[in-house]
Amino acid sequence: MARDKIALIGSGQIGGTLAHLIGLKELGDVVMFDIAEGVPQGKALDIAQSSPVDGFDAHYTGANSYEALDNAKVCIVTAGVPRKPGMSRDDLLSINLKVMEQVGAGIKKYAPDAFVICITNPLDAMVWALQKASGLPHKKVVGMAGVLDSARFRYFLADEFNVSVEDVTAFVLGGHGDTMVPLVKYSTVAGIPLPDLVKMGWTSQARLDEIVDRTRNGGAEIVNLLKTGSAFYAPAASAIAMAESYLRDKKRVLPCAAYLNGEYSVKDMYVGVPVVIGAKGVERVVEIELAGKDREAFDKSVGAVQGLVDACKKIAPDLL
Ligand code: APR
Repeated sequence: MARDKIALIGSGQIGGTLAHLIGLKELGDVVMFDIAEGVPQGKALDIAQSSPVDGFDAHYTGANSYEALDNAKVCIVTAGVPRKPGMSRDDLLSINLKVMEQVGAGIKKYAPDAFVICITNPLDAMVWALQKASGLPHKKVVGMAGVLDSARFRYFLADEFNVSVEDVTAFVLGGHGDTMVPLVKYSTVAGIPLPDLVKMGWTSQARLDEIVDRTRNGGAEIVNLLKTGSAFYAPAASAIAMAESYLRDKKRVLPCAAYLNGEYSVKDMYVGVPVVIGAKGVERVVEIELAGKDREAFDKSVGAVQGLVDACKKIAPDLL
């Protein structure tokens, strides 16, 4: 059986890590694309040269032209610029929106059957724009945010309880970053919900609140430490989990920025919700009942995403 082709659009920090993980997991052949000349070619060659040492078979190429995407089964998009000091959120939005328009056109032309995972920030708005620009079906275009946010939450909880990360599950909803909504009652250690663990004396409500807060600011914490960039290992690992579920038809239930058309009372927007990812793409949106504070927090998060989408519509009215 021929290997699947996975195109990485953007070959920066996350793109390079994605390429390496795809090889280590033998998910397919890799095409690295970037506007920077030499960078995708250099990274592709470097990773390919690690394959005899690690014992994996994958073909790596680097490219600066969209033709290289031809027939890709999966496209993972990290192209764009990071927010720099002095740049407003709106500046970032308009620059990366233009990038999504170019990338969307490239995918539309060369890889219209691909499953597309967007990582570029501001995520919930960029995945919306990428779907519009590419014209691909909504269920084939998703955003990576929830897997990362919930991984951060799971890691902090496992550390707090001194248990394996494997036995901690987390449930997060909403937009990426500071408006994300961790649902503590659906987050568990070996099936025991967090509120029960508080009652059992494993931790206090105050500690739990601190952990939720740290999770929400997980990206900023790393930016402050790195100073010259943002997180890339965990974002790449998260997108790989999504790609793997699609390629291997695993039907994993993963929190992703998915297109909502009435679910959770949201229309024509991408918001973080749990979805089933299988060979058809997003095969199902898991819709749970939300009430009280959780509903309020979710609505607030949706409002923040709506603000970003409105800003996109103003900058690029042709996208509609
Ligand atoms: N087309 C293709 N590639 C582009 C374009 C474009 N129009 N514009 C920029 N790029 C490339 C850059 O040359 C760079 O190699 O995108 C790459 C981005 O890589 P990094 O700056 O290293 O950023 P990274 O850490 O990988 O994050 C990528 O994901 O989490 C988000 O906020 C993060 O939006 C950022 C994205």
